[in-house]
Amino acid sequence: MRRESEQLAARPVAGGAHALLEVHDLEVEIPLPHGRLHAVRGLSLQVDAGEAIGVVGESGSGKSLTLRALLGLLPHPARLTGGSILLDGVDVTGLPARRRQQVLTEAMSMVFQDSLTALNPVMRVGDQIAEVPRRRFGMSRSEAHSRAVDLMDRVGIPDPEKRFRAYPHELSGGMRQRICIAIALSAAPRLILADEPTTALDVTIQAQVLDLIDTLRRDEQLGLVLVSHDLAVVSQTCSRVYVMYAGRVVESGEARELLTGPRHPYTFALLRSVPDPDMPVHRLLTIAGQPPDLTELHRGCSFAPRCPFAQEQCTAEAAEPALVAVSGGRHNSACLRWETAPEWDGAPGPADTLESRS
Ligand SMILES: Nc1ncnc2c1ncn2[C@@H]1O[C@H](COP(=O)(O)OP(=O)(O)O)[C@@H](O)[C@H]1O
Ligand SMILES: [Mg+2]
Repeated sequence: MRRESEQLAARPVAGGAHALLEVHDLEVEIPLPHGRLHAVRGLSLQVDAGEAIGVVGESGSGKSLTLRALLGLLPHPARLTGGSILLDGVDVTGLPARRRQQVLTEAMSMVFQDSLTALNPVMRVGDQIAEVPRRRFGMSRSEAHSRAVDLMDRVGIPDPEKRFRAYPHELSGGMRQRICIAIALSAAPRLILADEPTTALDVTIQAQVLDLIDTLRRDEQLGLVLVSHDLAVVSQTCSRVYVMYAGRVVESGEARELLTGPRHPYTFALLRSVPDPDMPVHRLLTIAGQPPDLTELHRGCSFAPRCPFAQEQCTAEAAEPALVAVSGGRHNSACLRWETAPEWDGAPGPADTLESRS
């Protein structure tokens, strides 16, 4: 216990030199009957107060497990097997499990993709919002009620007093996601972790919900980690982006720089697979080939088998290529051949290996 209080006492004053959230070398493993699935491999990231960062990657790249690991809420049997999580520069990883989870869930709230599963179907939405301040801050029933109504108003729910008494299925998908955002805010977090928060919504509603999240982030100086498989969604909202492939960050940097000058062939392929607004809604471009089996050892770059630019050097070493700085800023790539990126455009490249799927 003493160690814990000493650690928390070491928390520097607000505005200090530390990032709000720092994650170093995070490892998540899932034991399976036939081996071990290495779902998150050496992931590091950083979020400042008021900053929005994006985490993008295909389905299965480890985005959701990363968020859950940050909250200390990994689904069984996934386990955090390495790395450290720092809040305001204080490492919380060494705290006893229950205390660690308490510290993490006090600092961060999560917004999930599917509001219907996230909400309790048999409880009025207002009560679901009021529950957190009652439990966490010991508010009276009427205080918590007004706080919930205020929050519903904040997230753009018309006539909040009336909607307080609605059940989740009585609201539209967009309104339900606003309720989920109000629940996230009700805990007065410093960071919001949003896992594909708009994927289940229609395009126009998507934009409104993203706008809402962005406004709240700015007004409340919240840190935001926005996870999406869609680079377009992330690029609208986030100043920095981390691209994940097979459990690792393969490229990171300022959103604009990364989108206009990717330095990893996987990012390049993801950019090419952004759905074209002029195309029929369900026509999506996908990247040819399959991500690697993360229960097996492989040699060198895990994207090499799908990469049209791969050469012998990419699998010559046993280890994955490390992230290296590719410019003066914070732009990093884990491609050994990042310097050849300017030749990727126009060359027979990922664009030609893309398959269309409907
Ligand atoms: N409970 C689980 N049991 C077994 N494998 C899992 C479990 N949860 C996730 N995985 C695997 O871990 C990898 C990463 O999953 P996830 O973080 O959900 O990816 P993403 O959110 O990027 O789609 C995937 O290969 C997925 O199949
Ligand atoms: Mg996911």
